[in-house]
Amino acid sequence: MKDSPKIKERVLELHKLINLHSHNYHSLDEPSIEDHQYDALFNELLDLEVKFPKYQFSYSPSQRVGGKPLDGFRKIEHLTPMLSLDNAFNDNDMEDFNKRILERLLIEGNIRFSCEPKLDGIAVNLLYKSGHLDIASTRGDGKIGEDITHNIRTINSIPLSLIGNNSDLPSMIEIRGEVFIEKKDFDLANKKAIKEGEKTFANPRNAAAGSLRQLDPSIAASRPLKFYAHGIGYIEEGNFKLPDSQSEILEQYQSWGLPINPFSDVADDLKACEEYFHKILNARDNLPYEIDGIVFKVNDLDKQISLGQVSRAPRWAIARKFPAEVGTTVVKKISYQIGRVGSITPVAEFTPVNIGGVTVSHASIHNFDEIDRLDVREGDTVDIKRAGDVIPQIISVDLDKRKKGSQKISLPKRLPCCKKDLVKIEGEAILRCTMGLDCPAQRIGSLIHFVSRNALNIDGLGERIIELLVDKNLVSNFADLFRLEIKDIIDLEGFGEKSATNLIRSIQESRETTLPRFIYSLGIREVGEATAMNLALNFNNITNFLSAKEEDLLEINDIGPVASNFIKEFLAIEENISLVEDLITLGVNPKAMEIKGDNPFSSKSIVITGSFNSIARSQLKEELIRVGAKVSSSVSSKTEFLIAGEKPGSKLKKASDLSIPILDEEEALKILNS
Ligand code: IVH
Repeated sequence: MKDSPKIKERVLELHKLINLHSHNYHSLDEPSIEDHQYDALFNELLDLEVKFPKYQFSYSPSQRVGGKPLDGFRKIEHLTPMLSLDNAFNDNDMEDFNKRILERLLIEGNIRFSCEPKLDGIAVNLLYKSGHLDIASTRGDGKIGEDITHNIRTINSIPLSLIGNNSDLPSMIEIRGEVFIEKKDFDLANKKAIKEGEKTFANPRNAAAGSLRQLDPSIAASRPLKFYAHGIGYIEEGNFKLPDSQSEILEQYQSWGLPINPFSDVADDLKACEEYFHKILNARDNLPYEIDGIVFKVNDLDKQISLGQVSRAPRWAIARKFPAEVGTTVVKKISYQIGRVGSITPVAEFTPVNIGGVTVSHASIHNFDEIDRLDVREGDTVDIKRAGDVIPQIISVDLDKRKKGSQKISLPKRLPCCKKDLVKIEGEAILRCTMGLDCPAQRIGSLIHFVSRNALNIDGLGERIIELLVDKNLVSNFADLFRLEIKDIIDLEGFGEKSATNLIRSIQESRETTLPRFIYSLGIREVGEATAMNLALNFNNITNFLSAKEEDLLEINDIGPVASNFIKEFLAIEENISLVEDLITLGVNPKAMEIKGDNPFSSKSIVITGSFNSIARSQLKEELIRVGAKVSSSVSSKTEFLIAGEKPGSKLKKASDLSIPILDEEEALKILNS
């Protein structure tokens, strides 16, 4: 190919196309082209850059992870300081804030505020020159930060070039925002760290900070860092005209391809701020990332300028903090819990403490590496974090308050109830009891699972009664439950004639069950409801399942080598087979799934998105499988129907781009029941 002005033009056009599609995909979660089409554009660009190295610009989307690790961090002076925020802890503080603003501006009436969730991440400054990302730096002391451009460039949602005509972009602008990592990605990063014998992160914020504080950009590139823009520093406008308000700046950012928090909003007065605060506080636990409050900013930029700042915080903004989710208490004891499949979880029991209105008295600790990392000991003063329904977590130990002579916790060799030493599974950081159902704790755990709602669903048989039945030697395995008679239990604590009769009746009634429930109830490791359903579909009856071969298992949708191994192990144990046979002899009747192969959905490949009013999503899935449909989780050209409920995700757009028939709840149920 010969060099010509056309080549440069095409390279720049490819930048624009790739940046736009990448923004739609990474920031808006609304893919606008197929993956292979995106790859084709990217490959075309790479190809041109190899052939014409002079057109390989530093702001090319191909140049995200480049170069070798740095020797050190360069200091960067921000063009305008990065300020911090004053805090408000209650409605009074907010009223004072509003009053101070009115007094200072010598006005009456209502102030409009931009309302933004306060992300608990790392503040960064992105300097764009003529629309291209020039330098990215940390906040540092507010005046001078550190150059982290090499790491920021790896974050796919941060544009290397702003979307728009160069002549319309500011010649220079400092864009401020927050880099963060989502809660689920933080959990995954920690699981990976444990597996690889590396240190875990205490919280998502530390994980994000740790990723940015690396000299080697490949580390940041391997972590799913996200970014939301929320502020502006220095600007040299050029032909661009800065809008009049904070909310319009955010809109402008979005049209330049920068991600902004979709929950950002504008409140017309203080009351609306309060409503916004409660709305986000209620949604807090369901957000994918951690926030610790709301930032309220006077929306009008002229008013912001008039208000100015005091020391290092602006007078025009405030952070209204959420109630603390952290409390301090003392560890009374570290004990151990044995799970259904023998994994041992350390549990810290502590002096009850009230955190955000909930009394907390124990926390489970992931595993023994976590005990080592925290070096938590009995008698230690610790900070506990409680967030929503999540099990409380110890986040740090106050070493200054540690009592003399405290003992480091070491791996227990065996627990008081164990007849065999515990084993540490290679690479799992988990101790396991290998006694199987000979271990009383595992026996109880597996019985609780066997009778649970999604398994045999035996009404009135809770944890306490199971413990009692095992303790009195009335039940030691699943089959014993069906051998129970009224006379065995009528005299037990808490039972009378009526309750004993009812319990025996519900046990007997549970014998009429379905094959997927029955397979699930056996409690085989890695066999959850979906896998049990697939096994039931494939083997069709329990006899076939009991004689399953590895090669049959591996052919089944969703079953990989790990699950297949656990199933194989389960089936290789003679006691398990005779237990299942005993259950069948005692009248347990797992009915095969009746596949109605004559439904319009039979053998069709279907994807579900959104939520439904008259049916739970999981049940819809189960019913589709029952008529022989293949339900998969992502839309592709092979998808034959998309069933879209309320608030459908990006799958809807993808399906409509691919011209896949889309059905709403009513239409889908009508076909399903036809
Ligand atoms: S504005 C002059 N907006 O909170 C205004 N900050 O305590 C300065 N933060 O360092 C910040 N979300 O890292 C602003 N929507 C948001 C924010 C936000 C999180 C962080 C930011 C800052 C700290 C201030």
